[in-house]
Amino acid sequence: MGNEALYLQQVMESHRWPANVLAITSGKGGVGKTNIAANLAICLAASGKKVLLVDADLSLGNLDVVMNIKSKYNISHLISGRKSIKDIIHIGPEGVEIICSGSGLEQLANINEFQRQRLLKELSGLGNDSEAIVIDTAAGISKSVIGFCLAADHVMVVTTPEATAMTDAYAMIKVLVGNRFAGRVSLIVNMAETIAEGKKTYQKIADVAKRFLNAYVYDAGVLLRDERLSYSVRLRKPVVLAYPKSQITSSLAALAAKLGNGLAARTDDEGFFKKVIDWFF
Ligand SMILES: Nc1ncnc2c1ncn2[C@@H]1O[C@H](COP(=O)(O)OP(=O)(O)OP(=O)(O)O)[C@@H](O)[C@H]1O
Ligand SMILES: [Mg+2]
Repeated sequence: MGNEALYLQQVMESHRWPANVLAITSGKGGVGKTNIAANLAICLAASGKKVLLVDADLSLGNLDVVMNIKSKYNISHLISGRKSIKDIIHIGPEGVEIICSGSGLEQLANINEFQRQRLLKELSGLGNDSEAIVIDTAAGISKSVIGFCLAADHVMVVTTPEATAMTDAYAMIKVLVGNRFAGRVSLIVNMAETIAEGKKTYQKIADVAKRFLNAYVYDAGVLLRDERLSYSVRLRKPVVLAYPKSQITSSLAALAAKLGNGLAARTDDEGFFKKVIDWFF
């Protein structure tokens, strides 16, 4: 493990988030992380959970676009020390608390150890109030993405049925396993043409992870390609709000319900019990 990853792990262990932290990540970009994060957060909040949604894509974050937030302050103001955590929280639909990233702020892609420590500390304090923290990460296996993932209780890797996305999703899982990530790793297949195609995609990656990494990858389900999702991005309205009766909304709501059950049934037991008390089944 690299020094930085080890360091981040140590920081996070010493400021362990009591809330369930779900990091949504991917190997390949553009596979739907931000939309999945935003819509899951809204569904969780709609079921009565206090939810914090964090845009952890420090260079190209666009959660504000998907959530239609005109953000005056964002993580850059927190890092620079100009604003406190309370100043940069936006209240979104269903009362979701949102922390935006600063799009195009290159310096955030290269924050130093001190700034990163401060950021993680501030976020850990904030998490004390939340029942669920949903983190939208950048794509790829950069050190900061891995750091956010290792800090989470559950990493949901997003892929599509495309071979390139699948290869990169596997690479991400491999890095998590290589860093001895102790939480749950799940895989969600987005933009599938059919449920069968999505399930096949999951199975292929889960089988390879089992065989070569001896890692169990949970099945977070399949989301079909649906043009309503791209329309909703154009409308700047999350799809669960723009198209509440659509199939994609039902799928996202069902996934959020499973996640919500997982929050209630949370146990500190590692290993066996963790697999048994599986909110996906
Ligand atoms: N299920 C879907 N059906 C149709 N289009 C989709 C679906 N999911 C995502 N898209 C399209 O893919 C685009 C990218 O989605 P999104 O921004 O959520 O991906 P991302 O993984 O966060 O990207 P990045 O890696 O750049 O952060 C959306 O704007 C939308 O047009
Ligand atoms: Mg994104």
